[in-house]
Amino acid sequence: MTRGSTASPRTVALVVPHVAPSPSPRARALRLGVLASGHGSNFAALVRASRHGALHAEVVGLVVNTPRCKALTRAERLDVAATVMDHRRYNSREALDRALVDHFRTLRVDVLVMAGWMRIVSPVLCQAYDKRLVNIHPSLLPAFRGLNAMERALAAGVRITGCTAHLVVPEVDAGPILIQAAVPVYPNDTMATLAPRIHAQEHRILPVAVAMAGRNLLNERP
Ligand code: GRF
Repeated sequence: MTRGSTASPRTVALVVPHVAPSPSPRARALRLGVLASGHGSNFAALVRASRHGALHAEVVGLVVNTPRCKALTRAERLDVAATVMDHRRYNSREALDRALVDHFRTLRVDVLVMAGWMRIVSPVLCQAYDKRLVNIHPSLLPAFRGLNAMERALAAGVRITGCTAHLVVPEVDAGPILIQAAVPVYPNDTMATLAPRIHAQEHRILPVAVAMAGRNLLNERP
């Protein structure tokens, strides 16, 4: 795209690297756990997708690590059980992750989603939810791994960016990519205009990624 392009701001390329077969209509609903630290719009998108039939799943629990975040308010409004696990109360990353594993095992969670979980996770969580731990990141990975991805994309002057849903491994933002959506970056974009464009695509691709991870699980069953 050239400077001053008149392309519609809604122009979006969706890249699906692997399309798994649809699950049997008789398959049971996936039980989802969600981890969030802030706004919780991706959490809400998963609840909506589950309740409106776009995703054959039920969000059975939210855990937040920040006691007064907006995700908690959303959980209350959406009537989803929410628990605060303040990371400052645990001696190590592993200790928090062990508590998370215990919590989500009790809830019999099939797929666990890091939807704006601002903590680095340890192998404890990655191994317990191997191929079933999904993260959403606001860039086209492997570009702009880590914090402030949107700000760094803007500063770098890229003309296309987007979001990635991927499986989680101990190395940050480096796990196998499930699905990506690309969005244009316009010359006058700021965080105020770019962030909502990316978030809208996150809400679209995350339920698809969860379904893909769920199929991994079903395929592994005898
Ligand atoms: C999203 O941009 C996600 O990519 C990143 O954190 C943000 C969470 O947004 N990991 P929200 O809390 O779901 O609104």
